[in-house]
Amino acid sequence: MIGVTGTLEGRRAIVTGGARGIGAAAARRFCEAGAQVVLADRDQDGVSAAAAALRAAGFQAHARAADVTDEAALGRVIDEAAELLGGLDLVLANAGVLTVNPLADLSLAEFEHTMRVNVFGTFLTFKHALGHLKAAGGGALLCTTSQAGVRGYREMSAYCASKFAVVGLVESLALELASDGIRVCAVAPGITQTEMYRELVRERARLWRLDSEAAQARLQETIPLGRPATPEEVADAFVYLASPAAAYVSGIALVIDGGELSG
Ligand SMILES: NC(=O)c1ccc[n+]([C@@H]2O[C@H](COP(=O)([O-])OP(=O)(O)OC[C@H]3O[C@@H](n4cnc5c(N)ncnc54)[C@H](O)[C@@H]3O)[C@@H](O)[C@H]2O)c1
Repeated sequence: MIGVTGTLEGRRAIVTGGARGIGAAAARRFCEAGAQVVLADRDQDGVSAAAAALRAAGFQAHARAADVTDEAALGRVIDEAAELLGGLDLVLANAGVLTVNPLADLSLAEFEHTMRVNVFGTFLTFKHALGHLKAAGGGALLCTTSQAGVRGYREMSAYCASKFAVVGLVESLALELASDGIRVCAVAPGITQTEMYRELVRERARLWRLDSEAAQARLQETIPLGRPATPEEVADAFVYLASPAAAYVSGIALVIDGGELSG
């Protein structure tokens, strides 16, 4: 862990997809750096447990159930978060879903769901948080894209299209919101040890007709550092982007991929 104590002192954050994986790790890192956090997720039990674990560790954390594709419910949860925390200045739109299928088998419903969660969910989170950030005099809108938002991958056209779209949101909104004191950035993780990675391994094993171990080995052979990221390693990038150390950083997707994209 990087030395983060106090880096985000007094910051008021909401993290979507906060029940587990990268979102839960980012929420913990934000708390460790001094922020108060509302975790939002469609998984009500999971998000309650994640917030309870943070409170048990002495942090200020609250849970709210929210599906990021439901604009009215999401808007209410963001307003509630601002009320609970006395404002909002840090937003992490992280909720996401994975889709792996070749074009011939990819249904419109799958494509649409991927775009709804990954793109529309990010757009709606940013849109409904904007007024609160402006009221706070500025802040940071952060989101999770992927190395699949930087280059294409076979059988991942829907997921890649959604993650490229997120980078388009980031680059455009960084220009649009700079004069409001709002920085807009993404983190682009490579494969990271979460439930989504386990799903990727299952899907790759199915498509490559390999067992799970062989599929994992093939997924990892192109990573110079030789292993997936931990959720905490990705979370540290969010702490950096949220912190005063990144005061001059906006409009970027910070790649955390063990060197894979350089090869
Ligand atoms: N794990 C990886 O290898 C990897 C790599 C690159 C990018 N990402 C991205 O990181 C983000 C977090 O993924 P993760 O790896 O922690 O996966 P995960 O599946 O462990 O967690 C995703 C979380 O998002 C929540 N969620 C999904 N749909 C939602 C919706 N409609 N409304 C609210 N919450 C919803 C889930 O309930 C879950 O808690 C995603 O955007 C994902 O695309 C993951």
